[in-house]
Amino acid sequence: MTDILKNKMTEVSVKLSSLPPEEALALLAQEFAGKIILSTSFSWEDQVISHMVLSQRLPIKIFTLDTGRLFSETYYVWSRTNEMYNTTVEAYYPNAGLLEEFVTQKGPNSFYESVENRKGCCYIRKVEPLQRALRGNDLWITGLRAEHSPERGDLPMIEFDETNNIIKFHPLLHWSTDEVKAFINKNGIPYNTLHDKGFVSIGCQPCTRAIMPGDDFRAGRWWWEDKTSKECGLHAHS
Ligand code: ADX
Ligand code: SF4
Repeated sequence: MTDILKNKMTEVSVKLSSLPPEEALALLAQEFAGKIILSTSFSWEDQVISHMVLSQRLPIKIFTLDTGRLFSETYYVWSRTNEMYNTTVEAYYPNAGLLEEFVTQKGPNSFYESVENRKGCCYIRKVEPLQRALRGNDLWITGLRAEHSPERGDLPMIEFDETNNIIKFHPLLHWSTDEVKAFINKNGIPYNTLHDKGFVSIGCQPCTRAIMPGDDFRAGRWWWEDKTSKECGLHAHS
């Protein structure tokens, strides 16, 4: 199965190389019919991609991982998106039993106490639900951009995710922040107003803060940890 998927990836990557993101998404929706999925955290990148999918009515399932600790602004964008595009973004939740045990034993804010607790929380609230969301799919679309971090700067637009056994496609990988903003404004796309307040990369409320001009894009995520541990496990690279 893995080899078949990898061969298919090589085949489509040739066709994708010359296409703008809208057309690439349309092509992939056809090539991977019924097995293609977009993850959204309602960041401005994800909103651009969702707009491309929804305005062309592409048959791509859009899902979000609701950790239960998101900003109220994020829930607002989610609900505006459902209304505006007359759609329903699918919600995935942490396994109730796992979360109950974890929070009962460690308390609600244990992520500040150790990297181990933080990774445990990310596993229960994000990684395990992600695995359920991806199951049965062959291609996963994300809003990763090269500007986010040095690791993301080295990514190819299409890659094979060995951990989740799925092809990953990052249609906006080489877009600049200005291009993303311009697309949002031009198309009247709802976006997270925290982006106007210095929040560049937005995750859970207790683990995200605004950054200063010139800081790394992801400096506001898990800011109390040192750089080497800063990932939540959704993406093999950070
Ligand atoms: S993370 O690894 O630090 O959490 P980041 O916030 O940069 O990820 O987002 C990168 C991409 O991961 C998003 O474009 C989106 O595809 C996916 N993603 C991140 N958080 C979520 C979430 N809560 N639900 C669904 N997808 C998410
Ligand atoms: Fe838990 Fe923070 Fe990870 Fe969200 S980002 S899942 S609150 S540790």
